[in-house]
Amino acid sequence: MSSKILEGKTALVTGASRGLGRAIAERLGGDGALVAVHYGKNREAADTVVGQIKAAGGDAFAVQAEIGSVKSIEDLFATLDKELTTRTGAAHLDILVNNAGIAPNIPMEQTDEDTFDRLFDVNVKGVFFVTKHAIGRLRDGGRIINISSGLSRAVGGMDIPAYSATKGAVDVLTRQWAVAYGGRGITVNALAPGAIDTDMNAGWLRDNAESEAMIKSVQALKRIGKAEDIGDAVAFLAGPDSRWVTGQYIEASGGWLI
Ligand SMILES: NC(=O)c1ccc[n+]([C@@H]2O[C@H](COP(=O)([O-])OP(=O)(O)OC[C@H]3O[C@@H](n4cnc5c(N)ncnc54)[C@H](OP(=O)(O)O)[C@@H]3O)[C@@H](O)[C@H]2O)c1
Repeated sequence: MSSKILEGKTALVTGASRGLGRAIAERLGGDGALVAVHYGKNREAADTVVGQIKAAGGDAFAVQAEIGSVKSIEDLFATLDKELTTRTGAAHLDILVNNAGIAPNIPMEQTDEDTFDRLFDVNVKGVFFVTKHAIGRLRDGGRIINISSGLSRAVGGMDIPAYSATKGAVDVLTRQWAVAYGGRGITVNALAPGAIDTDMNAGWLRDNAESEAMIKSVQALKRIGKAEDIGDAVAFLAGPDSRWVTGQYIEASGGWLI
């Protein structure tokens, strides 16, 4: 009987109902982890992801939270504790993927206070408080993978500075936590996608030949990224082979603007 690389591990993937989170959850589930598929509003989509993981021979369950609310995050962890204990006998986590995020595609001039606050609530405060609650539940040798963005490194003609700044904050938290929890063998890395075909980019990238051509012209690899490209990169950071990699900003962007 062949054992899977993440057999016996538990994972929480935020924003796993769609897009990159879905691909990450399905890949970790395929590698044998029991996956908590977090969703915000789309219960049906999260249930579909759970069903996919189970159909592929893995195990998963859905958990809800509004990631911009600390109270909602607390409720998420209360549910998570119960679900994990029922399935494994303990409320232990091994892998946390902070993926849920928003990216309103608006330039500086159109960014009002509410939009700015919402961006930081979901993309930074959410990552901070999910991790704060997860850290005591993470077993030694665990993994934290924060989904950053190529936009925290380069501008690349994209005029969305508030969003880019949220991902800069995520990179800083990654380094802070790598040092803080390294003594427990926990690795913490930022995985930064380039432009990937998900709902987040549907408005400007999907079925838009001009945008596609612009992205390909500044990438070493000449295609638009797929969610599975990120799921596979996260699987490396979640697995045993990345044990000596921590505190790093790692881009999975097809070589965007190098
Ligand atoms: N796509 C890209 O090209 C790209 C590039 C660089 C970085 N990223 C980053 O990658 C991550 C995932 O992006 P994506 O493209 O997969 O986005 P997406 O397709 O829009 O999916 C977003 C996911 O996050 C959840 N979510 C969003 N806001 C939430 C909130 N306030 N509370 C709870 N859940 C929330 C959604 O859940 P529900 O649908 O259930 O509400 C959904 O599962 C984000 O952090 C994004 O910034 C993406």
